[in-house]
Amino acid sequence: MAEQPLLIVSNRGPCRFTRGPDGEVTAQRGGGGLVTALSGLAAVRPVTWIASALSDEDAEMAARGPYRDGDLTVRMVVHDREEYDRYYNVFANPTLWFIHHYLWGLATEPSVDRNVRLAWDAGYVPVNQRFADAVVAELESAEGDLPPVMLQDYHLFVAPADIRERVPEAVIQHFSHIPWPMPDYWRVLPPEIRQTIHESMLACDVIGLHTARYVGNFLASVAQFTDARVDTEAATVHFRGRTVRVTSRPISVDPEEFDRLAASEAVLAEREALQAWRPEKVVLRVDRTDPSKNVVRGIQAFELFLSDHPEWEGRVTLLAKLDPSRQDIPEYTEYMGAIQRAARTVNDRFYTTDDWQAVDLRISDNFPEAIAGYAEYDVLLVNAIFDGMNLVAKEAPLVNDRDGVLILSENAGAHPELGEHALTVNPFDLQEQADAIHTALVMPEDERRNRIAGLRAQVREHDITRWVEALMDDLARARPEAVER
Ligand code: F6P
Repeated sequence: MAEQPLLIVSNRGPCRFTRGPDGEVTAQRGGGGLVTALSGLAAVRPVTWIASALSDEDAEMAARGPYRDGDLTVRMVVHDREEYDRYYNVFANPTLWFIHHYLWGLATEPSVDRNVRLAWDAGYVPVNQRFADAVVAELESAEGDLPPVMLQDYHLFVAPADIRERVPEAVIQHFSHIPWPMPDYWRVLPPEIRQTIHESMLACDVIGLHTARYVGNFLASVAQFTDARVDTEAATVHFRGRTVRVTSRPISVDPEEFDRLAASEAVLAEREALQAWRPEKVVLRVDRTDPSKNVVRGIQAFELFLSDHPEWEGRVTLLAKLDPSRQDIPEYTEYMGAIQRAARTVNDRFYTTDDWQAVDLRISDNFPEAIAGYAEYDVLLVNAIFDGMNLVAKEAPLVNDRDGVLILSENAGAHPELGEHALTVNPFDLQEQADAIHTALVMPEDERRNRIAGLRAQVREHDITRWVEALMDDLARARPEAVER
């Protein structure tokens, strides 16, 4: 029997369109962890993917109808520019993103002003409605069983209620790729907004989160902000005559993809360049320039380590490979500046020579260079303030050739799975991070080898296929007769 078709819905889609020098518009693969993780699904079953048109070329292609590539159909939703700006650059980021990652310094920010309310009323809500319209149109035109709807991430919190109201028999799953914060932090938002978000989420059949900690927070949130009945032990919520299951499903990576990437010509060329450049030891971080990633404290911790251990001056560099992110948002441009200032402060303090500098900041979107860095690190620093999962912590050990040591924030979603093989740090504690860098650099070889073997075994066993299967099982339980595995 043919595999059941799926309807995936996310803000950023599996492809984007660009115009070449010949004027032809062609499809490129879209970026980001979510897209990579879900793209595999399209290889094994028919998928219709609804996503935002993010450029003029995307909108141009959307006007021509859905784009088809084998069993994958991409339907792009074209938004009003201003509405989308309020939705993406004000409400989803930074307002929601900062709530989910506890990034607001509440003594001074945020102020829920006219701008934020406008971003909700005339941005987030209507853009979610456009997505719901597209989903409902797909469901209404489906032949046979309705395809399950798989909504992704914090961009789409209020679409579920709309879809449920218009297609009551729909099977709806929502997966959040970011942490779910503690209930009190939601109180940043006005009561009617936080209630609308939580009630809409309860229009789903299944809600997926990365870790048990996030599941606990979600259950506590809906208990506070809705009149639902929560069964914490069963991780179910009873709301308006329906039962919603909340599951912990840690996302992962495709190890074979990283085996292939590591052997690719582009990565090998970058490795050669890194080998020509490298000092005796390399401490690597690979991140988007997002405040949640804690880049500034990472640089400060490295400075502290060098001042505590002057014998390492000239021998080890912090290589920070950073992908510029969300630069239309003031909080992000300011953070980029803070990163650059922090690196400058350290490099001014420690004498830079022709062969060595303390911090090497490389701000560019260069994926092959990042993978080459994965192969070359001695220490990998993942000190996120809070992070949904952090796929770097899973990807890099697969590729690493130097028995590198992982330093991992206790607040990364990857920590429950990888923590026993890593050096755990509190992301706010500079001294602990500085000490961890030193411990990692002087760690005996057999301990390093055991730790990285543990990391690889964990990731290879709990790979992306397993995550996708878990999501399919969740859908099957939501409507057993409709979703075949
Ligand atoms: O981590 C959540 C997530 O939505 C990822 O799926 C994505 O890669 C990342 O945030 C970046 O989001 P954006 O591309 O909108 O900046």
